[in-house]
Amino acid sequence: MKYVSVAIDGPSGAGKSTVARAAAAQLGYVYVDTGAMYRTIGLAVCRRGIPGEDTEGIRSVLPDIRVGITYENGAQHVLLNGEDVSSEIRTPEIAYYASRVSAVPEVREFLLNTQRDMAKNGNILMDGRDIGTVILPDAPVKIFLTASAESRAERRYKELAEKGQQVTMESVLHDINERDRQDMNRAIAPLRQAEDAVLLDTSALTLEESIASVLRIIREKT
Ligand code: C5P
Repeated sequence: MKYVSVAIDGPSGAGKSTVARAAAAQLGYVYVDTGAMYRTIGLAVCRRGIPGEDTEGIRSVLPDIRVGITYENGAQHVLLNGEDVSSEIRTPEIAYYASRVSAVPEVREFLLNTQRDMAKNGNILMDGRDIGTVILPDAPVKIFLTASAESRAERRYKELAEKGQQVTMESVLHDINERDRQDMNRAIAPLRQAEDAVLLDTSALTLEESIASVLRIIREKT
């Protein structure tokens, strides 16, 4: 049986994971968050006290770790050597480590087959940075989901303020521009729109409108 793969790529803070998760639930597809896998390796590196710039140190961790994925009530959980680390990876520190480890070719190679294999076992909607360009270049549906840096910063700022975190709009915008720069300019698997991807700019869209647009694109292509 041939399964459908939907690749959704785009920069940090564009709302990819929220939109992708909701669209997958409506379609009955499995949602695969590849950023969580990079975060899990970032966590392993951080726990060992290895600095994010230490490429050799990052490589040395790989033989000792296994990154697993399980689903509970439709929600993805990531496992580091069997331990569920799904909550622990959601911090700014681990986001920083994730972006550092993801620039190391051996780390990308390490996750490649796990990600490709997931697409062989069912209908999936996979989000990341290089899904349409590297991981699933033959996916029948590719979406590049983005929004202006300003509107991404505004959404992120609101989220953090609601959690009671003391941040300024300037610092949030600065972090977003910095992550974009790192993700787009790295030598390996840089963030870019695949030639055959549909561009979806959500700057002026609500969450509901973004989900509806993604579902429309998927239905048109499958
Ligand atoms: O999407 P999320 O913010 O969780 O991803 C964390 C980091 O992992 C990103 O900043 C990016 O550098 C990296 N990443 C990647 N390739 C992917 C998914 C995430 O390089 N497919």
